[in-house]
Amino acid sequence: MDHKVISLRSPHLILAGLGAFEKLGPEAKGMGATQALVVTDKNVIDSGIGKKAQEILGKEGIGVEFFDRVIPDPDVACFETCLEMAKKQKFDLIIGIGGGSSMDIASITSVMLTNPGTVYDHFGVNLVKNLGVPTILIPTTAGTGAEVTPNAILTDTKAKLKKAVVSPYILPRVAIIDPLLTVSMPPSVTSSSGIDALTHAVESYTSNNANILTDLFAKEAMILIGRSLRTAVANGNNLEARYDMSIGSLYAGISLANAGVTAVHALAYPLGGTFNVAHGIANGLLLPYVMEFNVLGDIPKFAQIARFLGEKVDQLPLLDQAYQAPRAVKAIYRDLKIPQSLTELKVPREGIPDMAKAAMNVTRLMGNNPRAMTVQDVERIYEKAL
Ligand SMILES: [Fe+2]
Repeated sequence: MDHKVISLRSPHLILAGLGAFEKLGPEAKGMGATQALVVTDKNVIDSGIGKKAQEILGKEGIGVEFFDRVIPDPDVACFETCLEMAKKQKFDLIIGIGGGSSMDIASITSVMLTNPGTVYDHFGVNLVKNLGVPTILIPTTAGTGAEVTPNAILTDTKAKLKKAVVSPYILPRVAIIDPLLTVSMPPSVTSSSGIDALTHAVESYTSNNANILTDLFAKEAMILIGRSLRTAVANGNNLEARYDMSIGSLYAGISLANAGVTAVHALAYPLGGTFNVAHGIANGLLLPYVMEFNVLGDIPKFAQIARFLGEKVDQLPLLDQAYQAPRAVKAIYRDLKIPQSLTELKVPREGIPDMAKAAMNVTRLMGNNPRAMTVQDVERIYEKAL
């Protein structure tokens, strides 16, 4: 029996499935929207998804303007340019279409239109006072879970660190998850975003904040991602694999939103902030090393992770079952051919002490880790990953 009080927060409405994108028009109309700002990037525009959104919204008489200058792992300056545009007209709906970057910029823009001060005043937990302009978030990748999480992340270029605005007001009114939008994703993005989703599932499942409801989502996410990530990367047109990845990412996002992530994300932040390593790649690289360290913090759960990822472990002693979990993740990586060392990513050994200190400062996530970590532990994990 779990003695914790269970809580689960999510958007007012989640629409997920093949063709769900078509519901954007009626939903926006139902929200009373007349003029929407679509926050996105050049790739989404080039793929034709932006134009399709405009058509769907146009049918309902809703006008559309585009901010299409979102960059990967966006910084504060990127957000400020978007906010400037959002202030020029009266938008009653903000729609984020793309990866986590576009969705996060859309969410932060929404709340910074209705809250005084600058974004720097809102980095942290529950510092947003007022509800933002209504948002709809639509992922075109399968991984970040940003459409269902109350965190939006920007790079603070001055502090060389990723910073998060964490607030229920970051959650959208509506999240629309359509696997068809992910079909054009290239294999490299499919694998890095898919690994991010796998990291969300593993970390939230083993978080000190997990509860029996988040466990349901995390478990299903691991099963879906474990069976379909390789295929989605190898054959992007395989709709079943795309479906599994989109729904797996959604489930992992719901679990992450409520149970939190742990040391992997904390250790990944300085890689992004200082060395510009993409979020999914940084997480992916560190995940098996942190898992190896964490096994002793929750042996039964790591044994379950091995099962969810398809390992046949029933005949093994429990501890061996648990250590099979990081091995299962490494086996996925071998098939995906993703970077497996910090050296490959041009992160030097000399950078480790500063990165370890920065990671320890992400106390919001370190506190969720199932095994307590010292700064020396963190340094050792980075060294193993060199
Ligand atoms: Fe993530």
